[in-house]
Amino acid sequence: MELVLGTAQLGMNYGVNNISGKPSFSEGFNILKKAFENGVNMVDTALAYGNSELIIGEFMSRTNRYFKIATKLPKLKYCENLKDQVEAYIEKSLNNLRVKKIDYYFLHSFEDYKNNIEIIKILKQNQENGKVQKIGVSIYDTYELDYILNNSEGFIDIVQIPFNIFDLRWIKDSILERTKEKGIEVFVRSIYLQGLLFLKKDALDKIHPKTYQYVSKLLEFAEENNMDISNLAMQYIKSHTEINYVLVGCETEEQIDQNIRNFYSDYTDKYKLIKEFAMKNYTDVEKEIIDPRLWKC
Ligand SMILES: NC(=O)c1ccc[n+]([C@@H]2O[C@H](COP(=O)([O-])OP(=O)(O)OC[C@H]3O[C@@H](n4cnc5c(N)ncnc54)[C@H](OP(=O)(O)O)[C@@H]3O)[C@@H](O)[C@H]2O)c1
Repeated sequence: MELVLGTAQLGMNYGVNNISGKPSFSEGFNILKKAFENGVNMVDTALAYGNSELIIGEFMSRTNRYFKIATKLPKLKYCENLKDQVEAYIEKSLNNLRVKKIDYYFLHSFEDYKNNIEIIKILKQNQENGKVQKIGVSIYDTYELDYILNNSEGFIDIVQIPFNIFDLRWIKDSILERTKEKGIEVFVRSIYLQGLLFLKKDALDKIHPKTYQYVSKLLEFAEENNMDISNLAMQYIKSHTEINYVLVGCETEEQIDQNIRNFYSDYTDKYKLIKEFAMKNYTDVEKEIIDPRLWKC
């Protein structure tokens, strides 16, 4: 498994617990520097994340430190020529990032993947001409992954899914094992549910009446095992060997420090216990909690 830095936080005000706004340009630089110096060699970005691609491009060209790049194709307009749109977006990302190729190019919209095979053909051509190395789809739901597994015909190299200790949908029906068998890599995001796991009671109550109860249980279990919540959330991810990349979004240097420490610390002996705890307490967490698109705040 590899640690990847998520950079929506660097390009825009992002997250449910965000009180300080997006980091300044120099703070963003320091987060990228710290990540690079500590062995994080990939960043996840998107054209949709404000000036995130531009900051990464500026960092790489100024410091000569190059990350592998995962970025995303924005939702397309069907009334306009698809090939022109896709190619213009790819050029824009390449220019912003100041690179010649994108390592992982995700469709930001599952609907674009499902509704138009033409888009995949266009991406394939860009794979052949070397502008894009691997093609992926960023999704929210297991039915979307099921659809990809049944229809991808070898076109899809990687999927990006939200995965965390409250969201056990992805461990039902061996869906990750089936993804791996198809040779599709798994990239996970939202391991802290955008920071929800660190919220206080008042803010948790606004999301759903049961959120506080779930987070309290997590805190109790973390304390019993001498961990903090961020580490427990990370070790839960690490206990799933089907995952290839784990994405963390950071707004401060302290957070990236802590997340790197968590990622490299060895809690293998606790994996079984953590998985049992998750199964016991979080098998049916409400969709209004695990899907940030449904949050009322
Ligand atoms: N559809 C898509 O493709 C999609 C959608 C969403 C995100 N993403 C990607 O995923 C990345 C991560 O976003 P996410 O939603 O998955 O967020 P996440 O990683 O679950 O949570 C990140 C937030 O948690 C807080 N945090 C991080 N480390 C912490 C620590 N050690 N201790 C305490 N708080 C900590 C920070 O928020 P505060 O400081 O504000 O509390 C941070 O903004 C994004 O940057 C983006 O690259 C992709």
